[in-house]
Amino acid sequence: MDKNLAIIVLAAGQGTRMKSATPKLLHPLAGAPIVAHVLATARSLDAAHVVAVVRHERDLVAAAVEAELPGTVIVDQDEIPGTGRAVEQAIAALPADFDGEVLVLNGDVPLLNADTLTAFLEQHRADAAEASVLSAIYDDPSGYGRVVRDITGRFDRIVEQKDASDDERRIAEINAGIYAFGAAALRDQLANLTTDNAQGEKYLTDVIGLLRAAGSEVEAVPVSEPWLVAGINDRAQLAETSARLNALIVRGWQLNGVTIEDPATTWIDLTVRIEPDVTIRPGTQLKGATLIETGAIVGPDTTLVDCEIGRNAEVKRTDGTLAVVGAGASVGPFSYLRPGTALGADGKIGAFVETKNAKIGEGSKVPHLSYVGDASIGEQSNIGAGSIFANYDGVKKHHSEIGSHVRTGSHGVFVAPVRIGDGAYTGAGTVVRKDVPAGALAVNVAPQRNIEGWVQTHRPGTAAAQAAEAGDEASGPASHDAATD
Ligand code: UD1
Ligand code: CA
Repeated sequence: MDKNLAIIVLAAGQGTRMKSATPKLLHPLAGAPIVAHVLATARSLDAAHVVAVVRHERDLVAAAVEAELPGTVIVDQDEIPGTGRAVEQAIAALPADFDGEVLVLNGDVPLLNADTLTAFLEQHRADAAEASVLSAIYDDPSGYGRVVRDITGRFDRIVEQKDASDDERRIAEINAGIYAFGAAALRDQLANLTTDNAQGEKYLTDVIGLLRAAGSEVEAVPVSEPWLVAGINDRAQLAETSARLNALIVRGWQLNGVTIEDPATTWIDLTVRIEPDVTIRPGTQLKGATLIETGAIVGPDTTLVDCEIGRNAEVKRTDGTLAVVGAGASVGPFSYLRPGTALGADGKIGAFVETKNAKIGEGSKVPHLSYVGDASIGEQSNIGAGSIFANYDGVKKHHSEIGSHVRTGSHGVFVAPVRIGDGAYTGAGTVVRKDVPAGALAVNVAPQRNIEGWVQTHRPGTAAAQAAEAGDEASGPASHDAATD
């Protein structure tokens, strides 16, 4: 642990530019709230103290902070606005005798990594600076504070966009919102901040200018890759940052042996695990705790949330949540796997099949157009096309059990709770309301009755009637039996 390091995460702002009912810092990025990325970085620096300043939607933001980094000290910002005020209150929560370095991180700058920060801190210490600020050169610096340097190129001060002159707005070097301070110097200058600016806020950035004016050593350290310090203020920046982070995640998996055919349309949360020799086809989203085992092929056009896909399984054009697909199994196209689906090894869930809370045993198949809800199916069974597990009696859900080596006819309805024994068959169109013993054939469709000539009698003159006449003539003498309904 770095005893001389304290980290302050600024997370109290409202995020007005997001125009959202959700606090800005809780918008998700690769499956985690924006602020969680900053805390994950803070965690890896192993600082003696981590303080997060909250105010807007404080309970929600504080909960996200604690979930990511338990033990973070939460400080509530009062009604005085601004990043300077936030740090002023955070520093009061540190031990009074703390005189190490204070690293300030903006809660809305999520891509910054621990390597960059470690190098930044080393530079700060090597410069023996009272304050260092990370900067970046942007083609479009609008919205950011600008780093103003004197004619010799030395750091002078930071000016916010809203307070900047036209000349200053043309400066391409921006303040990344990441600072290292000596604790004592920071305490001294925070006391001198005013709200005398365009936004009526206490700007943390003014501390830097004040330190510089007092003759302290202050450095602006440009970051190697500008995207590292991209801030999220609106939804356009959220999308850009998401795409950047996703590209990094995709590349990481590619270098780990995963084939990703179309990085631009493949979205992978940070929490997902993928084994080598997996193939991900275009249009795939992998979210949450999803695990894809080696040899599996996922996609195209597939979304999996908290799913486990076994070795060599194939899942195409599928939407799945909390589902487990066994090794060598096949799912899709157009399958909907709802929570509690567990497909055994070499099993199949085919086209237009919806499953929920359904355990489908090894080698068993539900190939076409079916709903399997609240059921367990044994091994090597085949569920006929267009089958429905009628699990809901209008009040409660019930469970059905199908044995192994069962063959159910097409268009069956299994009215739960019901059991079908091992090796049993059901006829096409059977509504199974009673248990079927092992080895039995269940049928309950009424015998078919053909009412001859019904169309000619009841729909005379229609195209169907004419077609029937023509067919009759072609197939021999008409047999207009007098049967009616
Ligand atoms: C800030 C910097 C700007 C820099 C930019 C980099 C100031 C005055 N300006 O501007 O120079 O280029 O970041 O991204 O610091 N926050 C609080 N309490 C507050 C206000 C904000 O905790 O009273 C938090 C926010 O939640 C956010 C961070 O501080 O995480 C930055 O606030 P934001 O309003 O986004 O500042 P910018 O205008 O982006
Ligand atoms: Ca910002």
